[in-house]
Amino acid sequence: MKVLESFVTTMPTLSSALMLNEARIAIRWTTSMVRFVVFYSVDGGVGKTTLALTTAFEKKRVLVVDADWEKADLSSIFGIPKKPGWLAGSYGKDVYVHKVEPNLFVIPGYEAAGFYQLGKMSDSDLFDALFEALLALPDAVVEERLPVDTIIIDTPKALKLNWLEALKRRVNALMFFVTDRRLFTRIADVKIETYSRYMRYSSLVIANMLEEGDEKTPGIKIVNAYIARVKMPKNYSAEGIHKAILKDGRNKRAISLLVKRIKE
Ligand SMILES: Nc1ncnc2c1ncn2[C@@H]1O[C@H](COP(=O)(O)OP(=O)(O)OP(=O)(O)O)[C@@H](O)[C@H]1O
Ligand SMILES: [Mg+2]
Repeated sequence: MKVLESFVTTMPTLSSALMLNEARIAIRWTTSMVRFVVFYSVDGGVGKTTLALTTAFEKKRVLVVDADWEKADLSSIFGIPKKPGWLAGSYGKDVYVHKVEPNLFVIPGYEAAGFYQLGKMSDSDLFDALFEALLALPDAVVEERLPVDTIIIDTPKALKLNWLEALKRRVNALMFFVTDRRLFTRIADVKIETYSRYMRYSSLVIANMLEEGDEKTPGIKIVNAYIARVKMPKNYSAEGIHKAILKDGRNKRAISLLVKRIKE
């Protein structure tokens, strides 16, 4: 377990550089050794957290950021102590980085969720703070010599479209759009415009919790990877969830596809 002491000093430099000269940041980022991957969705409960953590376990050399300020599920699933997470840099505290395995780390999101629930910070405040924190992370990773080349971000449902745009274009993130079977079943009819607006930012479309026979639905063609519904363990740990998802051979292949896409 480590603390990124350099985080606080790194962030103001980077953010002022961003305001003064965006081109400089863009060059740094395309040459950066760290790849950002964002799991996002329209609806809640479709499996962003589940698939983000499963992908992290399979990929390795990953730093996961629990950016879901609505509840910080991922932080509790990993059993992380209630220490300052990614938001801490914005108020001058060190950011706690939790070591899960030698090449898998998580930055918790408890205080972001706390501020949000108490109404002390809005979605926009939190997104701005998150964006600043993400900009500082590649340098912090290098300075702290974290053995990672990928930063996976778990997000709240229905992020604003201009935030997706910022993540995709300015952070050069791979955008993994997670949905469930509503995307290609009749229920989706009323929502199809929303889905297509969100899918415009996607690098990959992942359909989760598929039932037997769904693979034969014609609409499935717009999906790049699909994950079958599995039986989840009673012990709801990150390791248990990871194992349960991969027990199904088709899921294992689908997650390999996600990992391959990250490594490209
Ligand atoms: N393939 C699957 N098979 C069975 N259960 C699943 C699967 N994927 C996710 N779940 C379950 O569905 C629920 C929602 O999953 P998860 O929390 O990952 O979704 P989410 O998109 O992160 O939700 P939120 O938007 O609320 O953060 C959880 O109880 C999870 O265990
Ligand atoms: Mg979640």
